[in-house]
Amino acid sequence: MFAVEQPGDLHGDAAKSGAGLRSSDVLPADLVTYGKEAAALLNDLQSRNERMFLVTITVLNTAKTKQKLVNDVFAAAGVCQKYNCALKRLDWQQEQALMSSLPLGLTQIEIQRGLTTSSTAIFVPFTTCELFQNGEALYYGRNALSGNLLMANRKRLKNPNGLFLGTPGSGKSFSAKREIVNVFLMTEDDIFIADPESEYFPLVEWLHGQVVRLSPTSAQYHPMDINPDYSDDEDPLTLKSDFILSLCELIVGGKEGLAPVERSIIDRYVRLVYRDYLANPAPDRMPVLEDLYNLLRKQSEPEAQYIATALEIYVTGSLNVFNHKTNADITNRVVCFYIKELGKGLKKISMIHIAGCGLEPRHAEPLGQARHLVLYR
Ligand SMILES: Nc1ncnc2c1ncn2[C@@H]1O[C@H](COP(=O)(O)OP(=O)(O)OP(=O)(O)O)[C@@H](O)[C@H]1O
Ligand SMILES: [Mg+2]
Repeated sequence: MFAVEQPGDLHGDAAKSGAGLRSSDVLPADLVTYGKEAAALLNDLQSRNERMFLVTITVLNTAKTKQKLVNDVFAAAGVCQKYNCALKRLDWQQEQALMSSLPLGLTQIEIQRGLTTSSTAIFVPFTTCELFQNGEALYYGRNALSGNLLMANRKRLKNPNGLFLGTPGSGKSFSAKREIVNVFLMTEDDIFIADPESEYFPLVEWLHGQVVRLSPTSAQYHPMDINPDYSDDEDPLTLKSDFILSLCELIVGGKEGLAPVERSIIDRYVRLVYRDYLANPAPDRMPVLEDLYNLLRKQSEPEAQYIATALEIYVTGSLNVFNHKTNADITNRVVCFYIKELGKGLKKISMIHIAGCGLEPRHAEPLGQARHLVLYR
């Protein structure tokens, strides 16, 4: 500790008051500030596992003309000034400065200042994680840390699925529409949209896409439709059977899903119901849900009867929307399924149905060439 001679009064007052003389009363203000900073630094080093680094920060300015260089240096100084830092021009030391700013690990500039670990870490570049893919990459926003664009091709990611999360009115639908336009312009992919709130069809019409209306009175696309003429590793019937199983799972299976016996029965009769059509694929022979229902009704097994009864509401009952032959030609690149008018009981199965038609090949080209993007809501 050192005492500083203070002019008259203060010292006198302090002396008069006797006890409780604090250093801050007698030391000049800036010395007190430095003292506090030194104490905080010591505290960081001792108790927060921080280290002390000597850091030299160089800013390299290059320009085509001298005037531009002067302007750039001035602008850089302005930016630093804003954050309470001063830049010093390294006149006559340009060579050393250039060597120091290259990633060689050489510091030839003698200007250093001490920084703790956390303060130094701010200056270390490459700490942000960037997502910038090339090719058919779509725009997904800006990196909050670096401000760079996020460009991703979802089909090349480990998981291509995506979700828009946000508070009401925060722009989820807007982002989805923006992505649809982006997909439309950037890629060759097909676009399928399930539109439960009737908000996408204006955009689809604008893109000259097709709007398929699914309503209780008219369904224009039938879930049982099968396309036998595409060559792929997988048998179309197996795919279709799998799809109808998931449909039945929703219709028949309660909380536990379908029992193994029921699965086998559905698979067996789905194959049977398509047998005639696959032997002679004429459009008017395409089976509908009712054919499967009738086939199941004829069987004596109790499980078949049980499944048939569960299907009844969708065949002859009030939810028989999907029991018609297809009259929509969904060969357009952009297809929007308008499902607003469907009631609660049908919305779920229509979602599965739409996902199912997304998997069906609809063009002459082989499967895998045209990819699909299914967007919900
Ligand atoms: N990036 C944006 N630029 C301009 N306007 C935007 C942007 N994002 C959203 N909006 C506007 O904000 C409003 C709400 O957006 P949007 O309907 O997409 O929200 P939402 O999250 O889908 O809402 P909800 O949860 O009700 O469905 C719309 O009028 C939309 O035009
Ligand atoms: Mg919305």
